[in-house]
Formats: sequence, structure tokens, C-alpha cells
Amino acid sequence: MSATTVQTRTEPATATLKLHSSAEGKEETEYRYSHLLPFFSQDHYPPLTPFEHIDPGHRALNHSNPRSFLDSATQITELTPNLGTEVFGVDLRALDSDGRDQLALEVARRGLLVFRDQQEFIDAGPDFYREWGSHFGRLHIHPTSGHPQNYPEIHLVYKDANSSFNFEIDDSITSTVWHSDVSYELQPPGLTTFFLLSQPSTGGDTLFTSQVSTLKKLSPQFVAFLKTLKAVHSGVEQANFSRSGKRGGIVRREPVENVHPLIRKHPVTGEEALYVNRQFTRRILGLKREESETLLKFLYDHIDKGGDVQARVHWTPNTVVLWDNRVTAHSAIVDYGDSKQRRHGARITPQAERPVPALEDLDLSF
Ligand SMILES: [Fe+2]
Repeated sequence: MSATTVQTRTEPATATLKLHSSAEGKEETEYRYSHLLPFFSQDHYPPLTPFEHIDPGHRALNHSNPRSFLDSATQITELTPNLGTEVFGVDLRALDSDGRDQLALEVARRGLLVFRDQQEFIDAGPDFYREWGSHFGRLHIHPTSGHPQNYPEIHLVYKDANSSFNFEIDDSITSTVWHSDVSYELQPPGLTTFFLLSQPSTGGDTLFTSQVSTLKKLSPQFVAFLKTLKAVHSGVEQANFSRSGKRGGIVRREPVENVHPLIRKHPVTGEEALYVNRQFTRRILGLKREESETLLKFLYDHIDKGGDVQARVHWTPNTVVLWDNRVTAHSAIVDYGDSKQRRHGARITPQAERPVPALEDLDLSF
């Protein structure tokens, strides 16, 4: 295990107790995935340490047929020309090491893969989830979110009639907040796996966008300027959200801020992608405040409005979705609150390399 390995205490935290003592208590004990409900330990984690990331997609680059992991597919549909592929008939749980390498390359190329009929994968349980994710990189342990008890590497999103443990700002006119997961880390995630254990009958879809495609929309002159820039990504607001008592009210690792290039290069495909997001990017270094605010607002608006490079995933039961956080952004859609139905999701989040600037030799110091 990594230096971030933690000992998780066994006593349930307040937030979990609330779940079980709610009016829905009887139902909770009968919930099929009650062992995977959010648990908020009181542990304190040390800072993350740097590590060398070897991307599994590299190993598939020289493969004679790097899409042979899809040979058993009964249906493959490109969700949009630029982003996303939906696959039926491939049992993810059965993929061997070579198949997983190919999967990593395919997700890097398509940004987003949606696998249907994955009950075996979902029911394989948290030890399998950890083993699965570890193939793709060191597993990130989230500083504030709930996780299944004793499995801090599994990040949970959760909302039901009585509780919400999501990072949602409730005084906004929209729940749409484009982001790349935990981009404030020095080595943010690459290939990321997410699935729902329970979903509302309608609503709770997820939006995705290709940051390769949003970049390609911009003029070469403008892109050349963006390549010279770097920005601060911050975990402070997310930590303060928890410190205010929401989402379990726990901050287990002190928030960090890190500097990343505005345009990063994927280490396997070499593709360049826009790497700013409204949720975690705070300011562009080297520009005056007004310049930074104006430029970031322009880029966020550009991402918001890019319906022609976006895909929307509907979570039919037993769907497992993988995306490459280096070349995509996504947003939750919280439109199901009135239904009082449960939405319970789990994310496996391997960290990848420190973002590689598209402009070689860009100084990434503060
Ligand atoms: Fe996310």
C-alpha cells in the first residue's frame, strides 16, 4: 500500500448513525448495499506523497489489436463523434491484465466508455474494487467524502430522502458544475471508474465533455497563448464545505493547492486538452486579477456552452462508466431530489502523473 494507507477506526461516525436511525431505519437494514453506505471516520491522513505513475495505456500502444478486449461485445455505439462509447456484452470483471491495459488506452482515446450489464462487477464488492483500480494507478483517498467502512479508497456519492453527502451548493440556480475530479492534487486522477449501486427511476444522469474538443474549438493564436499559462487548483472550498457541517462534516487531510498547466498533454495519446474547471481552478498565475478572472470566465462559459462536444450518460441499472479525468470534464445533474429516491454511487479513482504541460519546459512553480 501507499504512504497514504490509513487505519480506519471501527466506530461509526455521526453521519452514518443518522442514516441508520432515520425513519427509514428498517428499510436501511434491508438495503442490499447497506455495507457500502457512507462512513465518516475521524481519522486524520498525512499529506499525499509524490510517486511515479506508469500508465497502463502505454503497454497497449504496441499491441497488435488494442481493441481485442471488445471482441465479445454484442453492441458498440459511439455516443457522439468526439466523446464516449457505449458497450454491451463485455464483462469488465473478467478482463485480465492485458485487457485492462487495452481498456485504459481506449478510455484515453474516447474519453468516456459506458459498459452496460455489469452486475457481476458491481456485486464483486469493495476488495475487488480496490484490486481493479490498483491496476491503473495508486488509489486516491478522498480527504472529505464518505466511504464504505474500512475501504477509504472507495469514494461515495449519496443522496436519499433524508440525507445528502454530495458536494452540492444548494443556493445556485443550477446543479451543473463542470470539473475534473480532485484536480487540486499534485497528481490528479487519470482513468476513473464509477457506478451506481442504487439509482432514481429517472434523473441523476451525468454530463461529460471532451476537453480535447473544447480546446480544438479555439483559434491557434489563442491556444498558443493558453499554453504559456498555469493556474492554481484548490481543495480549500471543498474542505470548508465539510467544515461547515455538510457532507459528513469531516476533513481528514488538510486541503492543498497545486499549480497545473492550462493545457496538458496526455502521456499516452499525446493529445492536448484544456485543464481548467469552475469547481477547483481559482486563478491564473502571472496575469493581473482582472485578466485571470475574465479569461477563466470565458473558458468556463466555453465549456458550459459546448453541447456539440458533450455526452450525457443515463444510469440504467448495472452500468459501469469509465472516464479519463485528464482529457474530460463532467458534471452531476441533481434533478431527482423531489422523488426522494436513493442515488448511491461509488468511484474508484487512481491517481496519474503530474499534468504534463503542452508547452515543454513550462515552469510549474507557484
Ligand atoms: Fe466528479
